[in-house]
Amino acid sequence: MCGIVGYIGDKLADSVLIVGLERLEYRGYDSAGVAVIEEGELIYRKKKGKIKILREILEKNPVGGNIGIGHTRWATHGEVSDENAHPHFDCNKKIAVVHNGIIENYIELKEELIKKGHIFSSTTDTEVIAHLIEENFNGDLFEATRKTVKLLKGAFAICVISEKEPDKIVVARFGSPLIVGIGKDENFVASDVPALLPHTKSFVYLKDSEMAVLYKDKVLFFDFDGNKIEKKIERASVEIYDVDKGDYPYYMLKEIYEQPEVAERILNDKLKGDEIFFENLNLSKSFLSKVKRVIIHACGTSFHAGLVGRFFLEKFARVYTEVDISSEFRYRNPLLEGDTLMIAISQSGETADTIAGLREAKSKFIKVLSIVNQEKSTIARESDGIIPIKAGPEIGVASTKAYTGEILCLYLFSLYLGRINYVVGEEEFKRYLKPLRDIPMKIRKILSDTSFIEELSDKYHKSKDFIFLGRGINYPTALEGALKLKEISYIHATGYPAGEFKHGPIALINPNMPCVCISPKSEIYDKMFSNIKEVAARKGIIISVATEGDEKIKEVSKHVIYIPDIIEELSPVLSIIPLQLLSYFIATKLGLDVDKPRNLAKSVTVE
Ligand code: G6P
Repeated sequence: MCGIVGYIGDKLADSVLIVGLERLEYRGYDSAGVAVIEEGELIYRKKKGKIKILREILEKNPVGGNIGIGHTRWATHGEVSDENAHPHFDCNKKIAVVHNGIIENYIELKEELIKKGHIFSSTTDTEVIAHLIEENFNGDLFEATRKTVKLLKGAFAICVISEKEPDKIVVARFGSPLIVGIGKDENFVASDVPALLPHTKSFVYLKDSEMAVLYKDKVLFFDFDGNKIEKKIERASVEIYDVDKGDYPYYMLKEIYEQPEVAERILNDKLKGDEIFFENLNLSKSFLSKVKRVIIHACGTSFHAGLVGRFFLEKFARVYTEVDISSEFRYRNPLLEGDTLMIAISQSGETADTIAGLREAKSKFIKVLSIVNQEKSTIARESDGIIPIKAGPEIGVASTKAYTGEILCLYLFSLYLGRINYVVGEEEFKRYLKPLRDIPMKIRKILSDTSFIEELSDKYHKSKDFIFLGRGINYPTALEGALKLKEISYIHATGYPAGEFKHGPIALINPNMPCVCISPKSEIYDKMFSNIKEVAARKGIIISVATEGDEKIKEVSKHVIYIPDIIEELSPVLSIIPLQLLSYFIATKLGLDVDKPRNLAKSVTVE
């Protein structure tokens, strides 16, 4: 993935670029770099490590110039090194390129270029773009870039500058996001809106196979055949993209604490009295009533929300539901028939695997409903309808508030479908709506005293392995709890269905192994209790997440984290909160940067 940014205007380009890159750091932080044209000469700074290192370099060794491009990298092709940091250049360092995506045919292209005498300085896929532009350059940077993009296979968003044409930035998009920011006597380009918000609120969203040429005072748009095209300028809402950390030490903690407000916002947005209302669903009740099968697909945390969603759809709407990991779904030639609805779930709306699955469905004329946080994202724009999560920007790489938001949206949609299908009667419907209204207050209650969870993190932050067990609707909670811990603390953790644990993994249990058992009140509580006993009998350290008032759980647990009483169906929204906090406290105890864990990025825009 990676984040890219470009500027042309009267300001010093490096200051705009560095602020933009800092706002895109969630897309990767293996290395960073900028290239500018200062008094007709292309100059650059690039370095392995987070953007603050590049900032320090620029402070010590500044660059001038009013046109430039910048990049923050999440390594795919080529190790993390200074040489592989973007920008990349042609042989003579007259052309600079930044790229987000993967060029799948770069090996063939590189071999041909080497035969023609090009000298490469990195092991990235991106560098071929710069050399191809050099090869195709015939006095027109736009034309050279246009011819180049037609040779590329894979996904890319690119920005190109050249000291041969210092009045323009040429950009192109295919498969990776790119937006143009429109200013007064200055223009911008970036992978995402927040990078440009300090400067403009007017944006043009490029589609695949579109290009733009940015000048100081105008932007021209083209397709890949060189035809001029008209694009609409859209206004971004400032409120939605407020990205300050406030008084919190980390975005992740801030976002954990925002969950009551997110729940309130979802309920205010989608519940009108006793009616569920979706503004941009765009799927008629008559279509929905004919849906016989739902395929949910998503990645990472959103996939776990999808697993919870299956319970809702099968229980409330009695619709057969499959849940798949997007990268697996697409390549197993899935059966997609007319009476199927696809639900794609994505916080960012830019995850490449999820986009690929969505396109697979659309190519087979399957309607796609997306549950997305970024309402202007590719997934949102390419879906037939959307349910916006309205969680606000989520910056911490470990997803928290988007997860609980996604579950709430799935709950509401499943009830809505259940009403359409006449599976849920009026009384039952009201019974399921009522506890929803208590959710914000109950999350607040968990967040109001976290001292016990902090104590646990003190005791167990040096553990090498953790097991997370859950059953039924809280099996996904076990997966998500384990994922949170792995992501930010680098402690090995496994989430498992508690009933299946005895069929092999129980061999892992030893007296030093913390085993987090998610066992709130439920229809299968007794089964879960027996499974916990099996682990306790083998001397595992049991940390239970249980419903307030459950005294029995103490018999088998070393520690109990209590959550407020709630109906079983909504328990995943509460039971994940202590696990988010546990991971957060463990990671901070270990002195790790929880917002930017190693090797990860918030938005994975490569397949
Ligand atoms: C990345 C992030 C995860 C996230 C996943 C899916 O891997 O590190 O935290 O859950 O992408 O992201 P999405 O934006 O599609 O929900």
